[in-house]
Amino acid sequence: MQDKKTFLEYLFGFFLGVNFFFLCLLYLFLQKNTLNLYIINKAVANTALLLIITVLFIGPLSRLYNWPDILVSFRKEIGISGFIFAVIHTFLSFLPNYYNLNRYFQTFNPSFYAAITAILILTILFILSFEKIIAKLPRSLWWKIQYRGVRTVFILVIIHFLLKNISKWKIWMTTHSSLPDLSFIIFILCIFLLIFRVTEYLNRKLAKFVFTGGLIITIIFYLYLFL
Ligand code: HEM
Repeated sequence: MQDKKTFLEYLFGFFLGVNFFFLCLLYLFLQKNTLNLYIINKAVANTALLLIITVLFIGPLSRLYNWPDILVSFRKEIGISGFIFAVIHTFLSFLPNYYNLNRYFQTFNPSFYAAITAILILTILFILSFEKIIAKLPRSLWWKIQYRGVRTVFILVIIHFLLKNISKWKIWMTTHSSLPDLSFIIFILCIFLLIFRVTEYLNRKLAKFVFTGGLIITIIFYLYLFL
C-alpha cells in the first residue's frame, strides 16, 4: 500500500515535469519558429525552474489554505523531478559542440558559478532524500536542510538566468519584436513568489491578501505583455 502511494507520488512529480516541459517547448517553438538542441535545453531549464517554483509555492499555500494540503505529500517528488530536469539541463549545457565551454571557465562568470553551486546543492538534497538517509538524520535537521537548500537554489538560479538574459529582456521591452522571452515570463512568477514568501514569513494574515493581489497583478501583467 505504502509502495503504491510512493509510486503514485513519483508518477505525479514526473508527469508534472513532462507537462511543464512540453508547454515550455511549445511556447519556445512558437516564439522562435524552430526546434533544435538550444530550444530543447531552454525548455528543460525553464521546466526545472518551474518545478522549483511549484515546490516553494506549496509550503506557504498549505499553511494559509486547506486546498493545497494534498500537494504537500507530492512536494519531495516534484523536487526530485526538478532535480532530474536540472541535471539534464546541466549535461546539455556542457556539450562542447553546442556551447562555448571556455566561457564557463576562462572568464569571470558569476552566472556559471551560481549555476554550479545550485546544481551541487540540489545533488546534496537529492542524496538526502533517500529513505535510508532520512531515517538516520533527526527529522527537524533534515527539514531545515531541505528548506534552506531549496530556497538557496531558487536565489542562485534567479542570479544565474537573470545575468544571462537581462540585456535581452531590455531590448525586447523597447522593440516588442516577438513573443516575450519565456524566462522573462517565469521571472515575473519568481518575483511574485519572493514577495509572497517574505510576506508570509513576516505576517501570515497579510500573506493571504498578498497572494490574491499578487495573482491578479501577475495575470494583468501577463495580459499587458501579450496584448
Ligand atoms: C539548478 C540548476 C539550474 C537551473 C534550474 C537552471 C535554469 C536555467 C534557466 C531558467 C535558464 C534560462 C533559459 C532561457 O533563456 O529560456 C538557463 C540558461 C542557461 N543555463 Fe542554466 N540552470 C541550472 C544550472 C546550470 C548549469 C550547472 C549550467 C552549466 C553550465 C547551466 C548552463 C546554462 C546555459 C549555457 C544557459 C543559456 C542557454 C541558452 O540561452 O540557450 N545551467 N538555466
